[in-house]
Amino acid sequence: MNPRKILVTAALPYANGDIHLGHMLEAVQTDIWVRLQRMRGNDCVFVCADDAHGTAIMLSAESRGITPEQLIDEVNAAHQRDFAGFNISFDHFHSTHSPENQAFSESIYTALEANGHIEKRSIKQLFDPEKQLFLADRYIKGVCPKCKAPDQYGDNCESCGSTYSPSELIDPRSTISGAVPVERESEHFFFDLPQFRDMLRAWTRSGALQDAVANKLAEWLDDELQQWDISRDAPYFGFEIPGAPGKFFYVWLDAPIGYMASFKHLCDNSDYDFDTYWKADSDTELYHFIGKDIVNFHTLFWPAMLTSAGYRLPTAVFVHGFLTVDGTKMSKSRGTFINASTYLEYLNPEYLRYYLAAKLSSGVDDLDLNFEDFVARVNSDLVGKVVNIASRCAGFINKGFDGMLADQLNDEALIASMQAASEEIAEHFENRDYSKAIRLIMALADNANQYINDQQPWVVAKAEPGSEKLQQICSTGLNAFRLLICYLKPVIPVMAEKAERFLSIPALTWQDSQTTLLNHKIAAFEPLLTRVEADNITAMVESTRAAYAETATVSEAVAPTLSGEVDSPFEPEIQFDDFAKIDLRIALIADAEHVEGADKLLQLTLDLGLDASGQPIRRNVFSGIKSAYSPEQLRGMLTVMVANLAPRKMKFGMSEGMVLAAGPGKDELWLLEPHAGAQPGMRVT
Ligand code: MSP
Ligand code: ZN
Repeated sequence: MNPRKILVTAALPYANGDIHLGHMLEAVQTDIWVRLQRMRGNDCVFVCADDAHGTAIMLSAESRGITPEQLIDEVNAAHQRDFAGFNISFDHFHSTHSPENQAFSESIYTALEANGHIEKRSIKQLFDPEKQLFLADRYIKGVCPKCKAPDQYGDNCESCGSTYSPSELIDPRSTISGAVPVERESEHFFFDLPQFRDMLRAWTRSGALQDAVANKLAEWLDDELQQWDISRDAPYFGFEIPGAPGKFFYVWLDAPIGYMASFKHLCDNSDYDFDTYWKADSDTELYHFIGKDIVNFHTLFWPAMLTSAGYRLPTAVFVHGFLTVDGTKMSKSRGTFINASTYLEYLNPEYLRYYLAAKLSSGVDDLDLNFEDFVARVNSDLVGKVVNIASRCAGFINKGFDGMLADQLNDEALIASMQAASEEIAEHFENRDYSKAIRLIMALADNANQYINDQQPWVVAKAEPGSEKLQQICSTGLNAFRLLICYLKPVIPVMAEKAERFLSIPALTWQDSQTTLLNHKIAAFEPLLTRVEADNITAMVESTRAAYAETATVSEAVAPTLSGEVDSPFEPEIQFDDFAKIDLRIALIADAEHVEGADKLLQLTLDLGLDASGQPIRRNVFSGIKSAYSPEQLRGMLTVMVANLAPRKMKFGMSEGMVLAAGPGKDELWLLEPHAGAQPGMRVT
C-alpha cells in the first residue's frame, strides 16, 4: 500500500500570550497522532504558526512601548521554545504576519469578491472617541440592562446570563481609555455565508466531523446562519484589504489561511508541493486539530472560503475539549493557569504527555488534570510497570552475558500476544481514542510484569547463574519491554529514544513490533525516567500563583492612570443612611449545585441561622461564579450576602439575594469569607 500523504495542523496560538497547559493539550494530542502516522510509514507533515494579528496584539504592544512586529517576534521565539520543550514535532512553525499569508489572504479575498460572496454595507458600532478606535464588544463594559449588575461586557452579562447589544448597556465605558463610547457608522465587508448553506449541510454530515459537533452545527445551519463581518477599520494590526485603504482583514479571516502560509513556507524550503495538498481534487488528507471554542471558524467560515476560492476541503476537523485543573477552569489566582515554560522548570514533559494520552478520547469532553492522579498514574504506569521491566532484566544480561540477548525466547506466546495487539493499538491512536490505546498497552505491561514475577529471574540467577534459562527469561522480558516502548513511542518519544539507545537498535517503526530482538548485544542500562515528585508540583503551582500576584498588583497600580481621567475609581459618595439600608449577613453555603443549561451560574442554598421560632432561615441564590468555583469547593464555606435584596425572577428560578465577591469577573473573582468565629446570620456592619 502506498504511504498516505497527510497534512496536519494544530490551531494557531495568539501571539499575545504565553503557551499554557491548555494549549499543550492540543499540541500533545496532535503530536501523538502525527508521530503515530510517521511510525506507520505515512508521509505526515505537521505545521503550525502564531496568530499574530488583531486589536489585542496591537494594544498589548502599545502598552509595552514596542511595535507589534517586535512583540510578535519575541512571542514567536518563546512559543517555539515552549513547544520544542514538549517535543512537539512541527515540520514548520510560521506566523500569520508573513508574506506568504498576505499573498494567500489577498488572493482568496479577491476570489470571494469575484465570485459574488462579498457584500459591503454600512453599520453602526461603538467608537472610542479618545483612542479613535472602534470597540469590539469585549472592550466595552457597563451596567447590565436587565439585572443592573455592574462591570459587564458589551455582549452578555456574567451575572444574569442575558445577552444584548453593547448599545443597550447602561453607563458604557471603553475599557481601553475609560471614555464614554459614541456610536459611529462605517462601511464593513461581509462574507455571504448563507450562500453556502447547502454545501455546509452536506459537508458537516459527510463524516468530516464528530457527531456531537455536527449536531451542534445543524442547529445553526437550520436558522442562525448570518453574513460574517470580515473587515476592521484602521487602526488595526493586520493586512490591508486590497483596493480598500484603511480597511483591514479581520484577524479570523487570515488566521486559518495561516495554515496554508505555513505549509507554503515549508514547500519553498523542501520537496513538498503546495498544489498537491491544496488543489480542489487533491487526494491527500488534511486534518485540523482544534479546541471546542473555535468550531464555527473551522467548520463553517473556513470550508466556505475554501470552496469559494477553489481549494480542497479538510478531510476532517478534530475537536477536543478544554483542560481543567483539579476540577475547575485554570485560574491565575489559584496558580493553576500554568505556563508551559513554568511546567518545564519543574517537571518532565513526558509525564504530561503520558497523562494526557491516558485520559484523551475522541470526544469533546473537558479533560481534568488532577495532580494526585497525575503523580499516581505516571509513577505506577511508566515507572512502575514499563521502566521496571527493563531495570529488572537488563542487569542480568549485562553482567552475566556480556550484554548479549539469547537466541531464543523463553515464552514465545507472551511476546506473540503482545505483537498481536499492534493493529488494535494503532487503530485506537488513529481514532484519537488514546486512553483506549494506553489501557491496552498497560494491560500488556501487566502481563509482562506477571511473567517476570512468575519466572523470578533473581532466583534463577542464584540457583543457575550464567544459565541459558536465565538469559532467555531476561531476553523475553526485554523483548516485552521493547514492544511496550514501540507502542508508547508516539506518546513518550524521548524515553523511547533512550530505550532505543539502551537496546542498541535503530529508531523503532510500527512494523518493528512484529519482529523480536534475539542474539543481539545491548548497551548499559541507563535511567529512563524518574518518579514524579509531588513537591515539584506544589512548587510549580506556588510559582505560578506568585508570578500572577506580582503582575496583578502592577496592573492594578497602573489601571487608573491608563484611563487618563482624574475621576475617582469609586462609585459616587453616599451617606451612612444609604449604607445602612443594605443588610449584609454572614451566610453558610449549605449547598451548591450546577444549574442545568446555565454556563455561568451556580445555585446556592444559603443558611442564615435560625429565625425567632428556631426554624433555619434559608435562601436560594443564583450566582455567576461557576467559572471560578466548583460546587464542591463552596459547600460548607461561609461568605457574605445581601440579605434584603428584592427577589429577582431569573430564567432558572427565583434568586433571593446575592453573595459578595471581588475581582474583575469571569474566572478571576474571589468570594468574601469572614474571619473564623463569625456565625451564619450575623449582621455585617
Ligand atoms: N488564534 C486562535 C486560533 C486560530 S486557528 C486558525 C485561538 N488561539 S488560542 O491561543 O486562544 O487557542 C489556541 C488553541 O488552544 C485553540 O484550539 C483553543 O481551543 C486551545 N485552547 C486554549 N485554551 C485551552 C484549554 N484550556 N484547554 C484545551 N485547549 C485550549 O483560538
Ligand atoms: Zn445581568
